[in-house]
Amino acid sequence: MKYTLSSALLFASTAAAQSCSSVLVPAKAKPVVAQGWQAQLVAGGLTKPRSIAFDSTGAVLIVESGKGISRHRFTDHGGTCLAPDHSHMLVEMKELNHGITLSADGATLYASTAEAVLAWTYDARGGAVRGEPRRVVANMSNSDLVTRTLLMSRAKPGTLIVSRGSAEDHALHAENVESGLSQVRAFDLTNLTSGDGPYDFSSDGIVLGWGLRNSVGVGEHPTAGTVYAVENSVDGVERNGVDVHENNPGEELNFLGYANGTETGRNFGYPHCFAVWQVDEIPDNEGLSVGKQFAIQENSTHRDETCEEKYAPPRLTFPAHYAPMDIKFTPDGQKAYLSFRGSFDRSSPVGYRVSSLAWDDSTGHPIASAESTDALEDVITNADLSVCPDDCFRPVGLALDDLGRLWVASDSTGEIYVLQRTGGDQGVFVQPAGDGSDNGGNGENAAAGVWGRKTALAVEI
Ligand SMILES: *[C@@H]1O[C@H](CO)[C@@H](O)[C@H](O)[C@H]1NC(C)=O
Ligand SMILES: *[C@@H]1O[C@H](CO)[C@@H](O)[C@H](O)[C@H]1NC(C)=O
Ligand SMILES: *[C@@H]1O[C@H](CO)[C@@H](O)[C@H](O)[C@H]1NC(C)=O
Ligand SMILES: *[C@@H]1O[C@H](CO)[C@@H](O)[C@H](O)[C@H]1NC(C)=O
Repeated sequence: MKYTLSSALLFASTAAAQSCSSVLVPAKAKPVVAQGWQAQLVAGGLTKPRSIAFDSTGAVLIVESGKGISRHRFTDHGGTCLAPDHSHMLVEMKELNHGITLSADGATLYASTAEAVLAWTYDARGGAVRGEPRRVVANMSNSDLVTRTLLMSRAKPGTLIVSRGSAEDHALHAENVESGLSQVRAFDLTNLTSGDGPYDFSSDGIVLGWGLRNSVGVGEHPTAGTVYAVENSVDGVERNGVDVHENNPGEELNFLGYANGTETGRNFGYPHCFAVWQVDEIPDNEGLSVGKQFAIQENSTHRDETCEEKYAPPRLTFPAHYAPMDIKFTPDGQKAYLSFRGSFDRSSPVGYRVSSLAWDDSTGHPIASAESTDALEDVITNADLSVCPDDCFRPVGLALDDLGRLWVASDSTGEIYVLQRTGGDQGVFVQPAGDGSDNGGNGENAAAGVWGRKTALAVEI
């Protein structure tokens, strides 16, 4: 039998769809996948999955907040077809709530509680930690904002970057760098021997940036070494007595310098100055524009001009309430993926998506200008934001595997999604075989098949 090219491709699509026997159905509404991407749900039933890391064998380590760290192996059938193989709890510890990172050699595993960064000797082949953990950074407890994001620098080997947010009931303490609140620090672990106590977060290490309310996502550019953090700005803001919280302040992308200490130590304004997103909703807005900082309550000594003089502005500003959680770069340094967990206090919900952002690989800075309002490109979103947050997936941790696939944890639904760039002319959400009524992409129809054509090519040939 002789196939035309298109029928051969259709055949390949069908064969691929049938061969993926591990397709799961999302707990909530099916995601909308951007053109050129394919997505599939590969794990469910997790307890608030937050950050994701790959160990040196390619196994997936997931911080399940309030439970511990689980380790998962998949049988990889290519494309997004990953079949769960083996899962087990690597560490059971209910205080673990967000952060995870591995040493460059993969032999030390770091994870965080609200109070401390813990380090375990990790046997990746055996899928087990050895012995009790050692505390390497401590004294971080505070109320309210309790995640401690971890990132092991690759540009400065052995340096651990730790992000700590504010204690909002004591927000003014963040005026003091010695409070250790609302800042990102870097600690040199290469000379910390087992006899040494942990570093004290508030007095040791290098301050990469401060005046940061809660910079949950921290990333290091792979070729230039620039460190960037995504900032969850304050809620419920008034400006000179007027409620402006619906669309202000903007969320931020801030440049914190380099892990070796170069260009570090800037203050980004919290708790006194905040980034403008929707300028026409701010009273007395003369001189303000997107990305500039405004004072909440102007007085004789503290004005918008004071913000400009004293504090560093964001490198980019995102819509208010988007709640950025993670930033992960592609290895070529030309793109970063950002997760947005979405709003909880806005009249109509916003956020709940993963987006990409174009980056200059030689300078390690974003390509878009600081006042840009459309630099983000959606990768995966929820179809109907009006049912969020209750009935939506909420992206938190991101990770890129060796094949360039993007893994996304949704804490609200206990799920892990895998996305692959196909470059095809449609967005495809892989449904169980036989459920081809609608593939969840951007308006394409069922005839396109469960798998996009380009992906079928990638899988089959
Ligand atoms: C913990 O940090 C506080 C500042 O937040 C500091 O006053 C205190 O001395 C530190 N405690 C220890 C045990 O290092
Ligand atoms: C390790 O080296 C750094 C940088 O020189 C220094 O600040 C830190 O105190 C040292 N740590 C220990 C435990 O000696
Ligand atoms: C830190 O790293 C940056 C980027 O690689 C480099 O330009 C700078 O010279 C380094 N600074 C020091 C003190 O090593
Ligand atoms: C003006 O506002 C700043 C920042 O909130 C505050 O620290 C300062 O005490 C205020 N000054 C006066 C005169 O009210």
